[in-house]
Amino acid sequence: GLSNTKEMFEKANKEGYSVPAFNFNNLEQIQGIIEACVETGSPVILQVSKGARNYIGKEMVPFLAQAAVAYARSKGSDIPVALHLDHGPDFETCKDCVEYGFSSVMIDGSHHAYEENIEESKKVAEFAHKHDVTVEAELGVLAGVEDDVVADAHIYTQPDEVEDFVKRTGVDSLAIAIGTSHGAHKFKPGDNPKIRLDILEEIEKRIPGFPIVLHGSSSVPKQFVDLMKQYGGEIADAIGIPDEQLRLASKSAVAKINVDTDGRLAFTAGIREALAKNPKEFDPRKYLEPGKNYMKEFYKEKIKTVFGSEGA
Ligand code: G3H
Ligand code: 13P
Ligand code: NA
Ligand code: ZN
Repeated sequence: GLSNTKEMFEKANKEGYSVPAFNFNNLEQIQGIIEACVETGSPVILQVSKGARNYIGKEMVPFLAQAAVAYARSKGSDIPVALHLDHGPDFETCKDCVEYGFSSVMIDGSHHAYEENIEESKKVAEFAHKHDVTVEAELGVLAGVEDDVVADAHIYTQPDEVEDFVKRTGVDSLAIAIGTSHGAHKFKPGDNPKIRLDILEEIEKRIPGFPIVLHGSSSVPKQFVDLMKQYGGEIADAIGIPDEQLRLASKSAVAKINVDTDGRLAFTAGIREALAKNPKEFDPRKYLEPGKNYMKEFYKEKIKTVFGSEGA
């Protein structure tokens, strides 16, 4: 069955890697993710946003995740697999996901004032823990778009707050804002694409060993941006988080790294290319599979060379 994230994070932080948390919206994306993780022997967190959950259908989501586990076991793989709610907007959504069989949820109270964020995160943790479900909360605000919440600038997580926050909420992991952001446009051309690893270091001193989560961590590979453009897509110069910084983060108390945009780009690039090269084709398998394969190969590479979770 599905696993919560407790042991995954303990092992990741003891051994100095991070667990990949990949978002999915459909069957082909979940195939790409689970095949990549089975073939590399990596633990994995399958995550859906509230929007993705509505798109797929509430009833379908847990069965898709269970199907991914069944696929892994059929290949003789015993990798742990979690089903996680990404950016849970409120207690009710988190509760619903727990009741639908998720093994982990995020309550994103980062847009609330500090005390309200504590109150809501604590409420979710108390409920979820009764069902053996782990909880991620967030302190600080990422620039960019998170579902409906738009922030103009980063509000970095304050190291002075983290110890009080995790103690009072009882959550199992903490998402922090250190300069990553959601989507394909994290930095502007000419920017120095650096995240604040110094703040991460300060945070680690306050809550040693506590599992930290990085959102907005796509690297936005040039090869997929170029394929998008080559085959009729439109995308402005997009700059993501350099692999080297994610590698350093993985060795630290960062136990979970969220990637969605890279998978979307790989998937869409593969579909665009296949459709452009085979204009007579209308069998969905013929153009969706190349998208799946780009996503899968990219995630395998990322697991091996950046997250360090291969064979963990
Ligand atoms: O952080 C957000 C994730 O990338 C999911 O995005 O709300 O468009 O599904 P979404
Ligand atoms: P990216 O947009 O960088 O892939 O971030 C995804 C994310 O944080 C999902 O919660
Ligand atoms: Na780590
Ligand atoms: Zn996120």
